[in-house]
Amino acid sequence: MCGIVGYVGPRKVVPIVLEGLKRLEYRGYDSAGIVYLKDGKLVKYRCEGKLANLEEMMEEVDDGGSRIGLGHTRWATHGPPSEANAHPHSDCSGDLVVVHNGIIENFHTLRESLTAKGHIFTSQTDTEVLAHLIEEHLRDDLAQAVAEAVKEVEGSFALGVMWSRQPDRLIAARSQSPLVLGVKEKGGCFMASDIPALLPYTRQVIFLEDREMAVLKNDSLQVFNLDDGQPVEKEIQTIDWNVGMAEKAGYRHFMLKEIFEQPQAILNTFRGRLDPETGIVRLPEIKLSSEELRGVSRISLVACGTSWHAALVAKYWLEKWVGIPVEVDIASEFRYRRLLLGPDVIVIPISQSGETADTLAGLRLAKDLGAKVISICNVVGSTITRESHGTIYTHAGPEIGVASTKAFTSQLTALFLLTLFLGQVRETIPAEKSRELGKALVELPALIEEELPRLQEEMIPICNEFGRSRDFLYLGRGANFPIALEGALKLKEISYIHAEGYAAGELKHGPIALIDRDMPVLALVPGDGVYKKVISNVQEVKARHGRIILVGSRGDDALAEIADFAIYLPIIHEELNPILYTIPLQLLSYQIANMRGCDVDQPRNLAKSVTVE
Ligand code: G6P
Repeated sequence: MCGIVGYVGPRKVVPIVLEGLKRLEYRGYDSAGIVYLKDGKLVKYRCEGKLANLEEMMEEVDDGGSRIGLGHTRWATHGPPSEANAHPHSDCSGDLVVVHNGIIENFHTLRESLTAKGHIFTSQTDTEVLAHLIEEHLRDDLAQAVAEAVKEVEGSFALGVMWSRQPDRLIAARSQSPLVLGVKEKGGCFMASDIPALLPYTRQVIFLEDREMAVLKNDSLQVFNLDDGQPVEKEIQTIDWNVGMAEKAGYRHFMLKEIFEQPQAILNTFRGRLDPETGIVRLPEIKLSSEELRGVSRISLVACGTSWHAALVAKYWLEKWVGIPVEVDIASEFRYRRLLLGPDVIVIPISQSGETADTLAGLRLAKDLGAKVISICNVVGSTITRESHGTIYTHAGPEIGVASTKAFTSQLTALFLLTLFLGQVRETIPAEKSRELGKALVELPALIEEELPRLQEEMIPICNEFGRSRDFLYLGRGANFPIALEGALKLKEISYIHAEGYAAGELKHGPIALIDRDMPVLALVPGDGVYKKVISNVQEVKARHGRIILVGSRGDDALAEIADFAIYLPIIHEELNPILYTIPLQLLSYQIANMRGCDVDQPRNLAKSVTVE
């Protein structure tokens, strides 16, 4: 996600901010900017693209040796990457600037009311409303104005704010987006969205908690509670991580970090779109009227790799809840078959990167045939989003590990929202069901968060037992069949073990011939409508001396009796099992690849974004 760096102190600020931003580059970004104080005025430079562009710009600049400023690398979420959308963002006077990470969910409403009061906006970002909102509250104290302004804000934020009329201070504030402060005994305070930015300068840090703000000056740092304004005593902690560890927030690999980020990624994807009380979904980004949506006769999902697995799950959801025929294609096949598409079809390309060549080619063909194209994508401004009629963004943040994890579960979340939305518009989901399904989704992130550490531990003995296997079989049925495919793909991608996913009912049509003691079989057996069928399939494996891992519902003691290993998951709404059941499979692949000494984050021969056919 975006990166924030700020400094006030005895040293020159520009090199500190640029170096700090460089150390946050791994987080992914598409524009960068800096602001500092010179001769009582704020001076701001911003540009699209790599940090090197900003550095080059700054080489020519006389910064007057400024000793206070902020910097930001932006990973676009609202408005494409451009200079105008890059941070810092200013208020109308240009005397106040803001850098921000997170998402302001009620930015539309705020923007409208601020515009009505005469504020002039110059970007498409959600962040800019913060600058104008703080300006609206500003009298003679910046900290107070920030505290008042954020009370009106819904969503998540880590903020750095600066005002030329109080030139000795920076304000930091956080709610559901990380922000860490750094201190130095000889004077000087730092703020950063992530520890690596601070490591060249200090290892003495203070972690801001949610709903806290800080006033940073050269010789003092005070923290307050954002809601009641009371001072908060904070402990200074000493960081002993090296830079590599810090980038991964202490996790050994980006993939593991991203697996653990899934609760947040899922939450960010539905937040602001799903009413937690009613389950009503709003997706104005689709840009189709209710009438147009009611006239759609078919949906066609097009994707590659992991994104294709998300599409396969969505077929089950959409057909069940919206009652609309759905076809799913691998993009490289879609583009070379006769396509029967027209204006009554919605084509949905799904892509984490938004740059996959085959998916893009499919999109273009669909448009040529007059279909409506609504993409699901994680990267704002990517080619697929630019060429689609509308885009539902997943808000997973940049995914660095090549094997997709949090992008996948965020895609599932977005597709589930789309299912609810279409079911509501086309009146195929009754209000009571919407409430029930919406509630189930709202509860999911906290539940996954709670299960993750235990699941990670539970993979160790399974990995010790099967980590040296040559082959693996994954079985699932219904909407969990694609999850079996995804589990197998994860394992082969990062551990190089040959793995195949099968619809459990297909077992006896071929793969059963492979079963022996050397072929571990993992089956997904939640207590759903096909539970007994899958258990019968598993019994067939057992009768042939196959080794079995079962993933099923907590309390189902039969699983432990049948299987060599049983992994238990909490019972949730059946529809959301595909998201929950993905998690242990990701962890198992990770554990095995790690034990085998594989390069987990950059597996051989694979690329994160496949921009060639
Ligand atoms: C590559 C990646 C996969 C990804 C696939 C589709 O093969 O290694 O992880 O699922 O591309 O990528 P997309 O960006 O279109 O989702």
